[in-house]
Amino acid sequence: MLKGKKILIGITGSIAAYKIPFLIRLLKKSGAEVRILLTPFAKEFVTPLTLATLSENAVLHEFHKRGDGSWFSHVNLGLWADLYLVAPLSANTMGKMAHGIADNLLLTTVLSARCPIFFAPAMDLDMYHHLTTQENIKKLQSIGYRLIEPVEGELASGLKGMGRLEEPEMIFEIIKDHFEKKKPLKNKKVLVNAGPTYEPIDPVRFIGNHSSGKMGVAIADAFADLGADVDLVLGPSHEKPLNHGIKIHEVRTASEMHQKCMEIFPSAKISVLSAAVADFTPSHKARSKIKKEDGLQSIELEATKDILLSLGKSKKKNQFLVGFALETDNERKNAIKKLKAKNLDMIVLNSLKDDGAGFSHDTNKISIIDNKENCMEFSLKDKSQVAVDIVQTIMNLLDNK
Ligand code: CTP
Repeated sequence: MLKGKKILIGITGSIAAYKIPFLIRLLKKSGAEVRILLTPFAKEFVTPLTLATLSENAVLHEFHKRGDGSWFSHVNLGLWADLYLVAPLSANTMGKMAHGIADNLLLTTVLSARCPIFFAPAMDLDMYHHLTTQENIKKLQSIGYRLIEPVEGELASGLKGMGRLEEPEMIFEIIKDHFEKKKPLKNKKVLVNAGPTYEPIDPVRFIGNHSSGKMGVAIADAFADLGADVDLVLGPSHEKPLNHGIKIHEVRTASEMHQKCMEIFPSAKISVLSAAVADFTPSHKARSKIKKEDGLQSIELEATKDILLSLGKSKKKNQFLVGFALETDNERKNAIKKLKAKNLDMIVLNSLKDDGAGFSHDTNKISIIDNKENCMEFSLKDKSQVAVDIVQTIMNLLDNK
């Protein structure tokens, strides 16, 4: 089941550490390789000898081996693992993880790991419900770490409530599900563009727009979740994908975005162009800052290249091309016009008339129109959920293409 999968477990100082030997046995039985890292305090709760015996690997807790002084590289461990589980995770180590503190081997490995990181908190109920703990959990989730929620029950303190480490059998199932999740887009190359573009007027000023890049970044993540090999061409944006495997190509201007998309497009099976590309750019960019006293009556503009149109023209039969349409009037008619003119297989329509939809929200309300002009309406949802709907619709249309 987990044959050959490399699982790294980081144990922190919590009484629940006694459950980890059971988890190690389950993982080893199903064919996984297991390595264990301890914080200095964790050794008080579970012995390195037990863990080393069950995992059949030396247990690490220091940066170097006493005696011969040889060095354990946290980078190597971070690269070795297919999954890094920190369990039980104490409030103390959670606080450090949420703030990038790296004062032991377990924590430095968190910062250098490239694999998915799962964390399973265990603590007393008041500590768990404390605002700081809850904010730290949110922070860890926002950077893409996966929470294995504690369960309710009797706690070591004698209190009853939320805070017990999830049972080893359940943690094992969660790990197994992660590896067995279907990856229908494995090895398929996907191009997504996102964000605004900034068109320079002079070295300090530009023409831009309100796009946050959230929608496109969520689409990139939804594709990566299905195993796709994603290239994200991203205009100036604070948004970053959660999935570490996504290749990000940062660009600023419409022209840079055009060039990068053209370069990647020929090898992409699916391309989704969600970026709010500027339609116009200043004809001349001043080399130095334009001074007030010099006066500026107008800015001469010229049209940018339409990226989607260029891709549509060179699209091959086996490629699937998706565009967006942001409309305020005659929405459906305008979207269909764009779909035909740009040779698309599907267009995602945003109407700025819908409350909670468009640029500056965490939510969006979309309609999807395919190249047979079938229109599917979706309700107002969080952008990550909208992204899943978009990707699922693409998969359905591809199946029937
Ligand atoms: N688009 C593009 N390159 C441009 C302009 C737009 O690739 N220079 C793409 C967008 O990423 C989007 C689609 O074209 O997928 C439609 O963008 P939109 O702004 O709605 O329409 P435009 O084609 O720019 O037309 P208009 O602004 O007149 O509505």
